Amino acid sequence: HQHASGEIMTAAGHHHNHVQQSIACESIVAGETTAPTREFELLAASTSLQLDNGKRVEAWTFNGGSPGPVLRVKEGDRVVVKLRNLDIKDGVTIHWHGVNVPCSQDGVAGVTQNAVAPGEQFTYTFIASEPGTYWYHSHQMSSIQAKMGLVGSLIVEPKSAGEMPASIEVNAFYQDLNSTQLLNGTTGGLTVEGKAGEQVKLRLTNAGNETLHFAIDGAPFKVIAMDGHDLHEPGSLENTLIPVGSGQRYDILIQLPKGTKVIVHSDSMKNLPITLGSGVEPVRAENKGMFSFTDYGTPLLEDHSAKPTPDRSYELILSQSMFIKTINGHAFHEIPPMSVREGEYVQITIINEGGGDHPFHIHGHSFRVWSKNGIPLTGSPVYLDTLLTTKGERYEILLKADNPGLWMAHCHNLEHSSMGMSMMLNYE
Ligand code: C2O
Ligand code: CU
Repeated sequence: HQHASGEIMTAAGHHHNHVQQSIACESIVAGETTAPTREFELLAASTSLQLDNGKRVEAWTFNGGSPGPVLRVKEGDRVVVKLRNLDIKDGVTIHWHGVNVPCSQDGVAGVTQNAVAPGEQFTYTFIASEPGTYWYHSHQMSSIQAKMGLVGSLIVEPKSAGEMPASIEVNAFYQDLNSTQLLNGTTGGLTVEGKAGEQVKLRLTNAGNETLHFAIDGAPFKVIAMDGHDLHEPGSLENTLIPVGSGQRYDILIQLPKGTKVIVHSDSMKNLPITLGSGVEPVRAENKGMFSFTDYGTPLLEDHSAKPTPDRSYELILSQSMFIKTINGHAFHEIPPMSVREGEYVQITIINEGGGDHPFHIHGHSFRVWSKNGIPLTGSPVYLDTLLTTKGERYEILLKADNPGLWMAHCHNLEHSSMGMSMMLNYE
């Protein structure tokens, strides 16, 4: 096991392994490039992990841990990851959540590749073309395998540091390992030192199934990116909860105040606060409002131009009863795919009919959110790969069909996904 600077590390769908659409992607690997190559090795294995609270849990790990290693690369790098499956008997894949990789590298068992059987290996290659906070997880029986621990962070650092580089960066990866909530693999909180005036960039990833609502007490903050995409001139927020849906990432910028700590915490992850800086306990404000991206940040000038006319439109109604989760009244195998042609603009209306949160994830594409409940967004353009929808909400999103292949689109509450709330996006 070499661990130097995270390079070369050892250790590695939904219930979609039965979807025997013989593998649908041409094996296009990201084209020739002179970009630096970063190589990693992930070994998937079953083990039992001794947690820092003394408990021992059965876990499926990458390189002996859950989460697996943080894969940190630079914008433009060619990333090569060799996955080896030691003994996960159903097989393993890796999906690069939020990275618009070529279809053949998307890691969906039964769709873009066969699951990697015990003793076998598969090498993923893609260009990390967009900086941001991403993550990876197995996409073979993903509702089980993610919960069993086959998850990890992927961070693509920007080529240039930007105008206001943060002097402190905190990666915070939340997961639910077999009903034990973990932050970066620990069962306690995270404490980060820092001086008053320093800027902290906090990367929040929700790799569990439930929405996490984060409160940030002690200092104002800005949401600087969602799902890896920067927001344009975001304003300062206070007394505002940040709802991070399953699969989503939020990057937050906080300037450490004088004399007070900053505490980032979530009611549903009570034992996992992040404490930043030093000083006295911050005042914990009650009655916080909920963050909404619909009018946050500043519109770009070119946004005055009209929205592109969609070449196609689809409407997806997400519903659920106790045992089945549906899209337009059907479960996975009965849902017709969304068909698109390369170059088209596709408008998708997503309606949450209730029953809970449905964070809707589309593989291989980032999409722009145009309206919520019929009202167009008025702030920064918002590009996501996972849209959190809550009961009664209706969103219009626009997707540019620029990555040919066969792609999954599904609720990222992976239990819902395995209970039917999954479909395909298909290039004609
Ligand atoms: Cu992060 Cu299809 O999933
Ligand atoms: Cu759902």
